[in-house]
Amino acid sequence: MELHILEHRLRVASIAKESIQLFTYGLIKLAFLSSKTRCKFFSLTETPEDYTIIVDEEGFLELPSSEHLSVADATWLALNVVSGGGGFSGSQPIGVTKIAKSVIAPLADQNISVFMLSTYQTDFILVRERDLPFVMHTLAAEFTILRVVNGETVAADDLGITNGFVKPKLVQRPVIHPLSSPSNMFCVTSLDPDTLPTVATLLMDVMFYSNGVKDSVVGNEDSGHIRFFSFSLIEGYISLVMDVQTQQRFPNNLLFTSASGELWKMVRIGGQPLGFDECGIVAQISEPLAAADIPAYYISTFKFDHALYFLKNLIPESDMKRDCGKLSRN
Ligand code: ARG
Repeated sequence: MELHILEHRLRVASIAKESIQLFTYGLIKLAFLSSKTRCKFFSLTETPEDYTIIVDEEGFLELPSSEHLSVADATWLALNVVSGGGGFSGSQPIGVTKIAKSVIAPLADQNISVFMLSTYQTDFILVRERDLPFVMHTLAAEFTILRVVNGETVAADDLGITNGFVKPKLVQRPVIHPLSSPSNMFCVTSLDPDTLPTVATLLMDVMFYSNGVKDSVVGNEDSGHIRFFSFSLIEGYISLVMDVQTQQRFPNNLLFTSASGELWKMVRIGGQPLGFDECGIVAQISEPLAAADIPAYYISTFKFDHALYFLKNLIPESDMKRDCGKLSRN
């Protein structure tokens, strides 16, 4: 198996809900007019707390510097596990369940903090640039590590860390943060970039003007529904994570899902904002899910983490068929 260290140097930032209008000029350019920018990695996730932006240095320049933009004080690099066949253009999503044991747990054992971004296409494990030597040392046994340089993959030099690396003891990783489970169900979908213009106004509505529908269509937080929407445009691939209510606003057959069109249940992790230094949070959640063979996606945001998991028996099969007919690719 190969582990690619992507070349994008990423910033993680948060925009307060009420300040989004200060940033829409740049965000619309990054999401819908990306050919006018040099950005190759952009993701925007709306939660009840804020908008989380993960963007490369080139894209970051499109946002105004403002006191309303909080930026995590590190540069992050994205790691991506590639299981043969080159690139992450493959059609089957690789959930965090597949990388829990090989990537997430070993990094947690070495006290390396990660930040996760699952998309329709793949799962990105973000690590701080300054931790890279430790990351490579930790994962070298399990993976062939390649760096992407100017779009080409090249062998990554081992940075020769030998000191201070203790073999981890078998640690217990109890779940220590409070969990909550919203009542809405989610789908993880994609869109042909060529069809982006046809849904651009709808997406702008969903991304920036959602407050108006909060109480009617989407429901409110008291009913257990939460606002959660994630858009990413990474190396030309679009990924969208949205709840079923939002998905129903899209024209039929435009969104790709896996053939079975699964719906995912969400668990939010965190009571107090989780920060960026603590390690092992993703591991606490993804290891038990992996042990139980439960497929899962995982999306970290500026304040909290979100796991999306799939339970076959969660919805009656008749509902499943009805909903998924609308969702599936053809
Ligand atoms: N750093 C955590 C870990 O290593 C995951 C990210 C939590 N922080 C956050 N702001 N979402 O497991």
